[in-house]
Amino acid sequence: MDGHVRRLLNRVAIALAAVATAALMHLFRHSSTFCFTTSPAYSSLSLAPFPRTSCDAASRRVVDPDLRLAKLRSTPRWRRHNAALSASLVEPLRRLRLLGNSSRVLCIAAGAGQAVDALRVAGVGDVTGVDLVDFPPLVRRADPHNLPFFDDAFDLVLSDDPAALTGALFPSRFAAEIERTVRRGGAIALAVDRHISLSIVATLFKKSRVVDVRNTSLNGSSASIVILSTNAERH
Ligand SMILES: *[C@@H]1O[C@H](CO)[C@@H](O)[C@H](O)[C@H]1NC(C)=O
Ligand SMILES: *[C@@H]1O[C@H](CO)[C@@H](O)[C@H](O)[C@H]1NC(C)=O
Ligand SMILES: *[C@@H]1O[C@H](CO)[C@@H](O)[C@H](O)[C@H]1NC(C)=O
Repeated sequence: MDGHVRRLLNRVAIALAAVATAALMHLFRHSSTFCFTTSPAYSSLSLAPFPRTSCDAASRRVVDPDLRLAKLRSTPRWRRHNAALSASLVEPLRRLRLLGNSSRVLCIAAGAGQAVDALRVAGVGDVTGVDLVDFPPLVRRADPHNLPFFDDAFDLVLSDDPAALTGALFPSRFAAEIERTVRRGGAIALAVDRHISLSIVATLFKKSRVVDVRNTSLNGSSASIVILSTNAERH
């Protein structure tokens, strides 16, 4: 009698487990089919209809960084900015022999990485982009007041954001970190608001001297590009 009840209970348990497994498998197959077959149709960047299920919405939140970059590069704004950077930053730096294809370059306050892109397109191989917010694939996260790089790690540190210096919480700390990471005899190139007095820039960058200033239009706003040479006799 006891054994009979136990056998009966066992059979019920096995049946329940089988039903549960079948239900799970059905659920899994259903949802994975849905994700794999439907989501590529709404490719990440195109304007897609409202998500029909949570699975659909989740798959669209993951934007492929390379796709996003390709999309950005194709915009007139990006191309205009690159042309301006090439004329007012890359070419002058090359003429002054402060930039070569093998230079190690750091772009700070890099935003979406336009300066990184412009330099790579110009043939510079070793370019790092950082900003307070990362923006893959060209820009990773770093605090400009506390740069995660060794002393003298770069030949050139630059920023194409006119608000980088004036918007810095501690401008002198910002300048000191740049000077720390540029090697002796290297260079610094900064976009600054055109109304900023050059003497302020010169005062902040204690170990460098201004070698070139030119007016330019970046991102629709007028700016000056200041190029400084870090003093080979410092330390
Ligand atoms: C730098 O790279 C660019 C693009 O690859 C090339 O056109 C240029 O000749 C290179 N410059 C030097 C000095 O090698
Ligand atoms: C360009 O301007 C837009 C807004 O007008 C801003 O969001 C973006 O960060 C700017 N880019 C640079 C590199 O200054
Ligand atoms: C840049 O523009 C400002 C005014 O917008 C002017 O005072 C200055 O002389 C110009 N600098 C150069 C190098 O052209």
